[in-house]
Amino acid sequence: MKISILGAGNVGSTLGKSWANKGHEIFFGVRHSDDEKTQDLIKDIGNNAQAGTNSEAIAFSNIIVLALPWQVVPKVLEAADLSDKIIIDVTNPLTPDFSGLEIGFNTSGAEKVAQWAKGAKVFKSFNQTGWENMANPIYEGKSTAMLVCGDDEAAKKTVLQLVSDIGFEAIDAGKLEVARLIEPFGMTWIHLAFKQGLGRDWAFQIVRR
Ligand SMILES: NC(=O)c1ccc[n+]([C@@H]2O[C@H](COP(=O)([O-])OP(=O)(O)OC[C@H]3O[C@@H](n4cnc5c(N)ncnc54)[C@H](OP(=O)(O)O)[C@@H]3O)[C@@H](O)[C@H]2O)c1
Repeated sequence: MKISILGAGNVGSTLGKSWANKGHEIFFGVRHSDDEKTQDLIKDIGNNAQAGTNSEAIAFSNIIVLALPWQVVPKVLEAADLSDKIIIDVTNPLTPDFSGLEIGFNTSGAEKVAQWAKGAKVFKSFNQTGWENMANPIYEGKSTAMLVCGDDEAAKKTVLQLVSDIGFEAIDAGKLEVARLIEPFGMTWIHLAFKQGLGRDWAFQIVRR
């Protein structure tokens, strides 16, 4: 599949590498496609990756991954025509000092994304763990869990497959408004990692009887 990733930082580059290894074609939307960091990333991935402006990335594919800092998301989305695109929102709507979430309870970052990206099919995922776990989601031989929520049932099949392609156990968590739960859940991972001393090398896993 063709996948456009807006942002080529920790999360964007990690997801892009992993999907390219699975045979997907990646287009990174970045501010400076000719800088050393971006060129190194493209060379590292090889044939299945390219980079350009956000507009070029959005034109490349119907699947758009938002891997940008929360604060820049409205500006990027409002400048684009995203109708009918599948958007996978990996952001956490963090306050600028990363101490908590900017919104919640009666809406969510993902629902704001759906308002800004008019007509798009928006999904929340990948926000509940660190980027190192996206590079390797396997612990003790078993996939760790990744929740996905969104309203469009046909597009959700594609998103769940892409989450599985990264190596996660993809869990359908329900409609987009479930992001009101999934975003604080992401904040829980951040809190445990940075405030409670668990560090970054752990993840949530589903066990069943
Ligand atoms: N880090 C994690 O483990 C993790 C896990 C789950 C979810 N998330 C979420 O994923 C998102 C990305 O996190 P990250 O760790 O990948 O961040 P990051 O490494 O800082 O990368 C952010 C990317 O956004 C670009 N960017 C920054 N400001 C921009 C602007 N004004 N306009 C356009 N592009 C801009 C950066 O480009 P430049 O290189 O040009 O600055 C970079 O490519 C965040 O919302 C975060 O909350 C992060």
